[in-house]
Amino acid sequence: MRVLVSGGAGYIGSHTVVHLVAAGHDVVIVDSFANSKPAVIGRLEALTGRHLPVHAFDLTDRDKTERLFGDESFDAVVHFAGLKAVGESARIPLDYYENNLDATFSLVRAMRRHGVKLLVFSSSATVYGEQAPLPYREDYAPLQSSSPYGRTKVMIEQVLTDVAAADPSMRFALLRYFNPVGTHPSGTIGEDPQDIPNNLMPFLAQVAVGRRDKLIVFGDDYPTDDGTCERDYIHVEDLAAGHVAALGRLTTTNSPVSVWNLGTGRGTSVLELVHAFERAVGRELPYEIGPRRPGDLPRSWADPGRAHAELGWSTTKSVDDMCADTWRWQSANPMGYEG
Ligand code: UFG
Repeated sequence: MRVLVSGGAGYIGSHTVVHLVAAGHDVVIVDSFANSKPAVIGRLEALTGRHLPVHAFDLTDRDKTERLFGDESFDAVVHFAGLKAVGESARIPLDYYENNLDATFSLVRAMRRHGVKLLVFSSSATVYGEQAPLPYREDYAPLQSSSPYGRTKVMIEQVLTDVAAADPSMRFALLRYFNPVGTHPSGTIGEDPQDIPNNLMPFLAQVAVGRRDKLIVFGDDYPTDDGTCERDYIHVEDLAAGHVAALGRLTTTNSPVSVWNLGTGRGTSVLELVHAFERAVGRELPYEIGPRRPGDLPRSWADPGRAHAELGWSTTKSVDDMCADTWRWQSANPMGYEG
């Protein structure tokens, strides 16, 4: 299929581009480069052995989006583009609602005008909110989230569900990611946050490479085995394979909307991840225990059973693989793409 990948230069988008090409798809990237680096494209072309057409604009620009769909034909869209920092979303909520919703409206309008039926959307486990029982299952309701970022995901899931109800010929996949970490095993593409990393794995990687003094562990008094929060870390390579499987399933399913958790089904604590990363690096890493971070849930993990059954997909990589690959990328690219 000819697949438009929005946000294809970003962390998860770039890894998924490699998997889509390997599965035989023709990929076209649209990315504003607001939160990604143009240098990733050359790395992707080297990895895939393909020329990858890139359109550098923001999907909130409806005229440009419409022109792209008028000039080229696509069979499917995989939609990653969006703002994604939880803390920032509480400081500039309007930017998050405007950007994430407008980009999706613009994209789905263009799809509908040009007869493109298949869309894979990046949702998040954050839509389960604070009340959902573990493990998180796709049929849990009502969806809610504790941050404006998370609420954009809840809203977009709702918008897409309404669009599909009005036009049952559409096929939408809502993929609820747990905690994506790791990099392509080549170490040539990876996660390259713009400022101070918000997330645990990129922060740890920057401590290991000497860009940060130490990790602050946000609280060790949670009701978990070692007192630190537990998360379902999923290797970005497994996550990328999940997108290819979901896209394939959209071509055969009769359901206008499909929802799949992409996680391993296992929780790992902050301290367990720190120690796994220490094993990958081969030395101890400096950390200290700090206060809790507002909004963090003690524990989060998926029931990935539906994705296993319906996509024939399951994760293959361990937490040690996640750390080894992240360290290969970070040590080869200490300052990221522009280092
Ligand atoms: N943590 C630290 N120190 C840090 C960074 C993180 O101790 O410097 C801890 C957090 O407190 C948490 C765990 O590491 O316990 C994981 O934190 P991340 O920020 O890596 O991941 P989150 O689970 O908070 O965030 C993820 C996704 C978001 C999503 C959110 C919803 O990255 O997109 O889950 O729960 F919205």
